[in-house]
Amino acid sequence: MHKPTHIQGVAIEALAKEFGTPLYLYDGGKIVNQIQALQTAFATIPVRIKYAAKALSSLSVLSLIRKAGAELDAVSLEEVKLGLLAGSKASEIMYTPSGVSFEEIQEAVQIGAMINLDSLPLLERFGQTYGNSVPVCIRINPHILAGGNMKISVGHKESKFGISIEHLPQILELAQQYQIPIVGLHLHTGSDILDAEVFLKGGKVLFKAAMHFPNLQFLDFGGGFKVAYSPEDSATDIAELGRIVSGAFQEFCKKFGRKLELWIEPGKFLVSEAGYLVVKATVVKETPSIHFVGVDSGMNHLIRPMMYDAYHEIYNLSNLDGATSSYTVVGYICETDTLASQRQLHTVKEGDFLVIQNAGAYGYTMSSNYNARLRPAEVLVWEGKAYLIRKREQFEDLIRNQEIIQW
Ligand code: LLP
Repeated sequence: MHKPTHIQGVAIEALAKEFGTPLYLYDGGKIVNQIQALQTAFATIPVRIKYAAKALSSLSVLSLIRKAGAELDAVSLEEVKLGLLAGSKASEIMYTPSGVSFEEIQEAVQIGAMINLDSLPLLERFGQTYGNSVPVCIRINPHILAGGNMKISVGHKESKFGISIEHLPQILELAQQYQIPIVGLHLHTGSDILDAEVFLKGGKVLFKAAMHFPNLQFLDFGGGFKVAYSPEDSATDIAELGRIVSGAFQEFCKKFGRKLELWIEPGKFLVSEAGYLVVKATVVKETPSIHFVGVDSGMNHLIRPMMYDAYHEIYNLSNLDGATSSYTVVGYICETDTLASQRQLHTVKEGDFLVIQNAGAYGYTMSSNYNARLRPAEVLVWEGKAYLIRKREQFEDLIRNQEIIQW
């Protein structure tokens, strides 16, 4: 894997010194390249890219993604509002919540987002409230087991997400009863899906169901395109994905009798590789069995290794060649907090900057204040210039909403 020392000509070390560590660093150029790769792969059909904001929802990232031509997939009202603040039009936002109250749905309708419903009770309530006046999308659970691991596999039969494809008759009955204009069908089966064929398999479920919905305007294939996390890992072949899915989609539209739009919701694919978490080695210690490097960060800033056993490539930015040895890189959190086990790194000494790769997606957005630690700053490099897009948290941020009652 490439181990960059610079992002668009800007030295990572200089940024670490200027803004301090831990630091989330994003390469805006990479994000835009990924959007363009998708636009190219799907160039033969009308595609809308709805970026899954949950992967990285910092305002300046959202506005850059919008500028590059992608729209938004939001899963909470807060993400919807972030999207609006970053310049999205409400009508460009797909709202795909899971298990929320009807009040939340009503607020999103009020705002003007496209609503994606994932249960029969909500669909019924929607019909009773809006009749034929508000177009809506249905999230189908296609009963497909896909994705990198069970925690991120969400389209199988036991998953909480979506309305089971076996309940298609009930969907149709409610649509008929309340005259609900169902304009979209959606599915998302998981994250880290390598094989383009899996999207086709989901597509076939949608194509079949779609024949029952005369008001359709789009089919949404969700996100989940895999990125490579380690040197041996592979990524979804996006050109192949575009070719296979676009071909099948065109065929389907002929059969359907009308041109529809294809929507996709990439999260990781747009931002994972564009993000780096730069940390500083605070302690290097040898136990009888392990050579540990402790850093000024941990699972409070990047939870993926502890939560999913995810592999994130790490390199020593301060020492790029010479002897290597095996280190286990651990965070400063007071529980087992391993960022990387037994990795060959060029000799690490206290004060060295280490760079953790693929930290753009589900890094900052899944961070917390555990151990009362503060969240890092975020810097985005765009056209050779570094922008501080979020300040490092201060102690005041931790106590802002608390009342101190001296009992
Ligand atoms: N659309 C929907 C409805 C989703 O639920 C998700 C992700 C996406 C799109 C985007 O998936 P992506 O392209 O990023 O794989 N925190 C986990 C991933 C959880 C994904 C949840 N849903 C991780 O760090 O691996």
